[in-house]
Amino acid sequence: MDPPRLRFRPPFFSGCLLLLPLLLNGLVVFQTYAVDLEVKDDANMSCLFAKWMVKFSISYEGTDESKTSTFMLPEDLSYIGTSCGNATSGPVLSIEFGDGNSWSISFTKTKETYQGAITFVYNTGDLMFFPDAKRKERITVMANFPANPVPLNTAFSCDTEDTVKSGDVTQTFQSVTLQAFLQDGRLSSQKTLCDNDATASTVPAASKSIPLAATTGTSESNATEAPSSPTIQPEEKPASGSYTVKSGPVTCILANMGLQLNVTQQTPMISNFNPNNTVASGNCGKTTAVLRLSDGNTKVDFLFAVKNSTSSEKFYLKGVDITVADSPNATISASNHTLNNWETTMGNSYLCRKEESILVSPGYKINIFDLKIQPFEVEEGQFSAAGECLQDDDTVLIPIVVGAALAGLVVIIVTTYLIGRRKTYAGYQTL
Ligand SMILES: *[C@@H]1O[C@H](CO)[C@@H](O)[C@H](O)[C@H]1NC(C)=O
Ligand SMILES: *[C@@H]1O[C@H](CO)[C@@H](O)[C@H](O)[C@H]1NC(C)=O
Ligand SMILES: *[C@@H]1O[C@H](CO)[C@@H](O)[C@H](O)[C@H]1NC(C)=O
Ligand SMILES: *[C@@H]1O[C@H](CO)[C@@H](O)[C@H](O)[C@H]1NC(C)=O
Ligand SMILES: *[C@@H]1O[C@H](CO)[C@@H](O)[C@H](O)[C@H]1NC(C)=O
Ligand SMILES: *[C@@H]1O[C@H](CO)[C@@H](O)[C@H](O)[C@H]1NC(C)=O
Ligand SMILES: *[C@@H]1O[C@H](CO)[C@@H](O)[C@H](O)[C@H]1NC(C)=O
Ligand SMILES: *[C@@H]1O[C@H](CO)[C@@H](O)[C@H](O)[C@H]1NC(C)=O
Repeated sequence: MDPPRLRFRPPFFSGCLLLLPLLLNGLVVFQTYAVDLEVKDDANMSCLFAKWMVKFSISYEGTDESKTSTFMLPEDLSYIGTSCGNATSGPVLSIEFGDGNSWSISFTKTKETYQGAITFVYNTGDLMFFPDAKRKERITVMANFPANPVPLNTAFSCDTEDTVKSGDVTQTFQSVTLQAFLQDGRLSSQKTLCDNDATASTVPAASKSIPLAATTGTSESNATEAPSSPTIQPEEKPASGSYTVKSGPVTCILANMGLQLNVTQQTPMISNFNPNNTVASGNCGKTTAVLRLSDGNTKVDFLFAVKNSTSSEKFYLKGVDITVADSPNATISASNHTLNNWETTMGNSYLCRKEESILVSPGYKINIFDLKIQPFEVEEGQFSAAGECLQDDDTVLIPIVVGAALAGLVVIIVTTYLIGRRKTYAGYQTL
């Protein structure tokens, strides 16, 4: 009967709510808060693991015309009613937000599967989400999620968008990891992918992965497509993308970069982030900030922190997390939170035109190209003056140093010559 314990996942997902602006269709930028929590029972055993972003799109009647309200879960919500259930009912995740809106998902299981049922009650009288609504009423919609029952003791995973339609409501889920009825309180390493992800992973990764070593013998003999890339492809430079993270309406992180992953495990893999598919998200703070770039199954988190140096406050890249959901049952990841890169005075942006390779952990590197980044104190959505990286300075510095050395040499030679000449001259005079 005790209230359930909710454990909010540290450190990147500190708090259950992440500020996550999304770039959809390359155009619409809106903000989202992600759900990320583990529900524990009285015995401190986890029964439910839930992590996702969800966007609501709801049609309603305005005073003159029909309207659509599109929003994510707000920051301010409560989890009252969330529980691990009891002998007769399964776990429930229940969220209340705004003026009389509630969203809950309750899980049931059979011998082999589990599934969630969503009950969403929205109040068109909530001016925040339904401005100008003709009728003010509470409407309830129900839907199953995931659409198909999930095998027990597997985690349901869906990186791509998964849409659930019901009445006037469309719920678009993304980056879902979900498991109810956890065995031993642990998230299973066995995954059940949503249909979209499953098809995506069987389609040959088009531009993303460039095999480094010649892959041998695994290709199907009767492939119909022409052998388009018979030779090892050159390592292409990744295209540069521009990314922003917003906090409410305010841009708080700006980044331009080309990003490449170099994972050297059993098989070396170089993969380029395609800016056209890459979604930027993250969260902003006064002393820490996170930029997450996700391209399909591959995610890189950049963690920034502020430190006091002798004279001024500086920010720097403190950590990088890499996650690659490689195949249905293999997720590889690497993380390093003791980096010390990109140090720049607060209030400035950091600029580095040269390629930079950051070793995250043995076998995991990220290569950064054409970097310009500002994780703190962004004003009016614009980059501030840039502090440049050492490499960039080097390009200027080296010629200067060489030039100075040469000039020095000339001076020395001339002086030696002159002194020598004078000595010789003096020598003649004494004669
Ligand atoms: C529950 O588990 C957490 C860590 O898993 C531990 O820190 C905490 O003390 C436990 N609480 C109880 C009541 O057992
Ligand atoms: C189990 O939980 C449900 C919903 O919370 C409740 O209606 C029911 O009475 C509970 N059953 C028992 C045996 O506690
Ligand atoms: C190869 O061709 C055979 C016979 O046409 C077919 O049964 C099989 O599915 C094909 N394999 C692949 C990988 O396309
Ligand atoms: C990838 O990493 C391997 C091992 O550290 C290194 O030999 C190779 O040059 C790297 N390639 C690129 C493109 O960074
Ligand atoms: C991204 O999209 C643009 C416009 O559709 C296209 O020109 C460009 O080649 C794409 N970039 C990549 C890396 O696919
Ligand atoms: C830096 O120093 C100032 C004043 O000494 C202090 O107020 C601030 O909290 C410090 N910041 C950090 C990140 O330590
Ligand atoms: C994935 O899991 C299935 C079933 O457990 C297994 O047969 C398969 O070999 C695994 N694949 C990889 C790449 O580990
Ligand atoms: C993290 O990065 C630092 C700096 O590059 C390095 O010294 C350290 O070994 C790395 N840690 C791990 C676990 O690889």
